[in-house]
Amino acid sequence: MIPFNKASISLLEKQYLNDALENSKLSGDGKYTFKVYEHFKKRFGIDHMLLTTSGTTALEMAALLIDLAPGDEVIVPSFTFSSTVNAFLLRGAKPIFCDIRPDTLNMNELLIENLITPKTKAIYCVDYAGIPCELDAINEIANKYGLFVVEDAAQAVGSYYNGKPAGTLSEFGCFSFHETKNYVMGEGGAIVLNEAKYLERAEIIREKGTNRRNVLKGLVDKYTWHDIGSSFLPSDLLAAILCAQMERYDEIMEKRINIWEKYHDMLRPLEQTERLRRSVLPEHVKHNGHMYNIILPTEKIRTELIQKLKEAGIMAYICYVPLHSSPMGRNLGYKPETCPVTEDYGTRTLRLPLYADMNEPDVEFVIEQIRDGVNNI
Ligand SMILES: Cc1ncc(COP(=O)(O)O)c(C=O)c1O
Repeated sequence: MIPFNKASISLLEKQYLNDALENSKLSGDGKYTFKVYEHFKKRFGIDHMLLTTSGTTALEMAALLIDLAPGDEVIVPSFTFSSTVNAFLLRGAKPIFCDIRPDTLNMNELLIENLITPKTKAIYCVDYAGIPCELDAINEIANKYGLFVVEDAAQAVGSYYNGKPAGTLSEFGCFSFHETKNYVMGEGGAIVLNEAKYLERAEIIREKGTNRRNVLKGLVDKYTWHDIGSSFLPSDLLAAILCAQMERYDEIMEKRINIWEKYHDMLRPLEQTERLRRSVLPEHVKHNGHMYNIILPTEKIRTELIQKLKEAGIMAYICYVPLHSSPMGRNLGYKPETCPVTEDYGTRTLRLPLYADMNEPDVEFVIEQIRDGVNNI
């Protein structure tokens, strides 16, 4: 069996986890949590970030920080994971779905301005497949209309847009370290606060609405309830795993990029004969090898190819069922025709297996099976 994902765990993760069990705090904000912050500071220049229990809760924290409330509208792509939208739906804000670009499958920045109303308060944009969306244009629109921007960079740790790291491109960046991502801690994430003014309130929101962090910093000797909040901080045991992953950053990144490039090179002839379309990488983007997608000519071909690959022991997956036409989207009253490009590409996109420890013969076998499939279906 070739799974679509498998976390890369070495002796280092086990060693740090063991050390955390024996010597560190079991709850959050122990030594490994702070070591993780040092890694992100050194590598990406990130000054203020907070580990969270998931990418989902990082997005929820952003919604709390910008005080989203019933009556507010948030512009968001439909081609994303449910968490991007649930994060503010939980606060009563309404999603306004924006269609995607046919090339990167990221939010189409040219369509955003038409969706803005007096109720619009924020844009939640997504770096799909680890390829940052057009944040210069998105930030420009947000500045013009006074909107917040939350970058859902769950898949984009280590990607760059115009030389700047994903997650640092707007007021808030949200990472995921879920098992399926490039750098993992099991379940976990982080919120990046690109403006220092949000840090103090974010620390309170993350600690059940209390100023417990100030006790740990030695600023006060007892803590109390200050704000709305929840239990958003992860155990230091999980931070220990992530710390080891960050120390293996280059190794993991290089392996993933090599596999991505191999798919990209070896699938070129099938694109030339119009059997499929390969992932599109804009020139101003440096990707992190998170995901390799192909676009098939029809949904029927995708369904048959998935079946053929499955019979060969290869797990390839459809990416997202567009949110606006999902059961929840329909219950909320959205119509499939609101996002025609999303609707179309949502039925034809296929995610191929890609993980750091995937060996070359397996990558070649997947390519061979795709070649055979698309030429004969
Ligand atoms: C775009 C996007 N946003 C948010 C999430 C949620 O992250 P997590 O699983 O860490 O909660 C994911 C995870 O798959 C994702 O792909």
